[in-house]
Parts: sequence; C-alpha cells; structure tokens
Amino acid sequence: MPETSISFERAADYYDETRGYPDGLAPTIASEIAVAGRCKGDELLLEIGVGTGRVALPVAEHVRRVVGVDLAESMLRKLVAKRANRSVDAVRADLLQLPFADDHFDVALSLHVLHLVADWQAALRELARVMSPHGLYVQASDGRRLRVLWDEVNARLPTLQLDLGATHMPTDFPILGGFAAAGPERRLHYTQMTHVPTVLDQLRRRVWSATWTMSDRALGELVTTFEQVVQERYGCIPHALEDTRTFTVRVYRPDR
Ligand SMILES: C[S@@+](CC[C@H](N)C(=O)[O-])C[C@H]1O[C@@H](n2cnc3c(N)ncnc32)[C@H](O)[C@@H]1O
Repeated sequence: MPETSISFERAADYYDETRGYPDGLAPTIASEIAVAGRCKGDELLLEIGVGTGRVALPVAEHVRRVVGVDLAESMLRKLVAKRANRSVDAVRADLLQLPFADDHFDVALSLHVLHLVADWQAALRELARVMSPHGLYVQASDGRRLRVLWDEVNARLPTLQLDLGATHMPTDFPILGGFAAAGPERRLHYTQMTHVPTVLDQLRRRVWSATWTMSDRALGELVTTFEQVVQERYGCIPHALEDTRTFTVRVYRPDR
C-alpha cells in the first residue's frame, strides 16, 4: 500500500454498517449521479476508491458497465459478494497509477476518497488522463453527519479539525485541478436518525479513518469534547438525533 494514501483494508467488515443510507435513498442518489453525468445507459464509468460498492452498485443500473478501483482487497471482496448480476468490475489498483489507457472512460465518479490521498492533485491529473476528452467527472459527497455538533467540537479543538475522514485536504467543494465545471451543483437533502451512543462507541473504537492515527490522549480529548458539546446542547446524551444531511453532486469536464 502506498504510504501516501489511506487504505480501508481494516474497515471492510463494518464499513457498510457505518455508511448506510436511509431506506430507499440509494437509488435516488444513483439517479442524481446519473443525471449529473448525463448517463444514457451505454457509458463505461470509473469509480476511484469504490470501496464496497455502496454507491457503484446502484449507479450500475444507469450505465453499461462500472469499473471500480480500490487499494483495499477486503473492500473489493465485499463489493464482489454483493454485485449479483450487475455489470461492475472490481480492480485492485492505486488511483494515482490507474491501469487503464488514456481516454478510456466516458464518466468518472468519486466520493469520500480524495481526502485520503496526500497528493490529490496528482490523483485528479491521473483521472483526467484516463477519461475521454468529452467525458464527465462527477464528484459527490454525502455531507457531514451531525455537522453542527462537529463544527462546535472543531471550534473547541482547533488543532484537531476532525472531519470524520478528512485528513489531507479540505472537503469543501469545488475541488478542481485538471477539470473545469460542467454544470450546476445538485443537492439532495435527506434526514437520517443517528444513534448517539453508537457514534460515541465508534469514536472510542476508532472506526472512522480520521481517528486511526490519533494518539490515545487526543482521542480521549475528542470523545470528552464531543460528550460536552452534546450535553450542553441537549442536557443529556440523547438516544438518537434526527440529522439533516445534504448529498452534493458536482460535475466537471477534463480541462487538459
Ligand atoms: C471512505 S471509502 C469510500 C468508498 C466509496 N467511494 C463510498 O463512498 O462508499 C474510501 C476508499 O478509498 C480507498 N482508497 C484510498 N486511497 C486509495 C488509492 N490511492 N487508490 C485506490 N483506492 C484508495 C480506500 O481503500 C477506501 O475503500
């Protein structure tokens, strides 16, 4: 594994549990991606950092074939176990060195991956290389879970700036570099119940990648601060909170 990226090799067994969408939302999200990528059904689509295929599998309904690339074999094994008869290939490779010819893909997709790659600008250059000059790159994000609470935690721990996953780069859009905007941003708001004791348990167990390299002391401080913020806001640690999240989709074309 290249040291410049964070592989999710260790996360395959719990990943889907922590990233699930509310019932029925995954097909809607896939449609948003397909509309942004102007998919008509005959496209070859590449997802970099495909993981367990959480999004690639529903997206496959809208294109001819999906090729999903990931560093983590364990994540790809989960994808293969779930794909049934969908046209989705799992390729173990580094997105910084894609094993594909130039101008190969009609559509490219990424979500929740570039922040795990130190040289994400190089990742975008490599992505642009394998895309057709007329292709479209869809960059999507689930939006942050419990955003208001994490903003307050980050304000109190300024050296930490935890973004439940973000390490090397800002997650704010737009992230350009070898690409130019090719359409309006699309936003889909949804609500999701978040079980607060589970979030605390996941923090303590270092489920989220942002906590993987944190010292025990920093993690302890993070958990305590999160508990304080929740207590101050709700007067207790509530069982569950209704969380409003925004799925954001932006579309770009290669600019090379
Ligand atoms: C947070 S997961 C996102 C998975 C999927 N896109 C989703 O939204 O469910 C990030 C994935 O990117 C993969 N990854 C990280 N760096 C990579 C790299 N350099 N090349 C390929 N995959 C990488 C990780 O192994 C992990 O499976």
